[in-house]
Amino acid sequence: MRFLVTGGAGFVGANLAKELEKREHNVTVLDDFSKGVQANLELFKGEIIDGDIRTWEPASFDFDAIFHQAAITDTTVYDEKLMLSVNTDGFKRMLDFAVENGVPFIYASSAAVYGNAPSPQKEGVHEKPINAYGISKLKCDQIARDYIKKSKSPIIGLRYFNVFGPGEQHKGKMASMVFQLWKQMKGGQRPRIYKHGEQARDQVYVKDIVRANIIALEKKKSGVFNSGSGIATSFNKIIEGLRQELGLKVETDYIDNPYADKYQNSTCADLTLIGKTLGYKPQWDFDKALKEYVKYLKSIR
Ligand SMILES: NC(=O)c1ccc[n+]([C@@H]2O[C@H](COP(=O)([O-])OP(=O)(O)OC[C@H]3O[C@@H](n4cnc5c(N)ncnc54)[C@H](O)[C@@H]3O)[C@@H](O)[C@H]2O)c1
Repeated sequence: MRFLVTGGAGFVGANLAKELEKREHNVTVLDDFSKGVQANLELFKGEIIDGDIRTWEPASFDFDAIFHQAAITDTTVYDEKLMLSVNTDGFKRMLDFAVENGVPFIYASSAAVYGNAPSPQKEGVHEKPINAYGISKLKCDQIARDYIKKSKSPIIGLRYFNVFGPGEQHKGKMASMVFQLWKQMKGGQRPRIYKHGEQARDQVYVKDIVRANIIALEKKKSGVFNSGSGIATSFNKIIEGLRQELGLKVETDYIDNPYADKYQNSTCADLTLIGKTLGYKPQWDFDKALKEYVKYLKSIR
């Protein structure tokens, strides 16, 4: 089959594009390289289009599905106009291509739509984002839910939680907590986290997110679904895991949290809907994923 992966030079997009290719599909990547990097596509053999989702026009549309990953992923970008233009208008253009051509549209939404919702976060409950990024993603989900009512082709939104794994280095301060803490510890520093490290996030391995996308394509059941590990992993646990994997005894620096009153203490995906509808179940528990990821990180430095 022929697939278009937008944002395919980015973290999730490149992992997905390469996995689809491994499964013998013909994959085209569309990315404007505003964030993504060629290095992520070193082993990729398909076509790479350097283009912007807001303006790109296909010469002829011959894809069997679109996997839409492209977005501004820096959650500290406050320019709402820019965020909406790329993340929401760009998304809608890609959605329209898919719907007009009657092919499945699978796209990346985000747990950021839940803002500070109490954990576990559940679809349809407390969808109140607290930043421009989250707002732009919730708007995508609202458009998708509207389209689903009238579209004959499947539209599947996956609300990723905190994804970690190979190929995220280019994201800098937006890379996962696992990567940030690994970098500090590997560089001989003490890991630095807010007091007292029991803040927890749903940390999901990128291979499970890639699988969720592929399952979404296979099941072809429209909807907007949480996509995570279903477990809240504390920052202390990440550090403990890294200590073991790196064979280090380094202590943790606990610092005051200046945003303590607004800080999200826990995120955890309620996976009931995606489990029931798509049959998705994560396969990578945190310890197993961390082991594989650290092995990868050691191999690239
Ligand atoms: N990584 C996570 O933890 C996480 C969590 C929730 C949601 N998501 C979503 O998953 C998707 C992939 O995120 P990621 O972590 O791989 O981030 P990423 O920044 O590595 O990937 C995004 C890609 O989109 C490209 N892009 C940006 N604007 C574009 C435009 N106008 N036209 C074409 N390409 C453009 C970038 O160059 C980049 O390669 C995003 O939609 C993101 O919002 C990611």
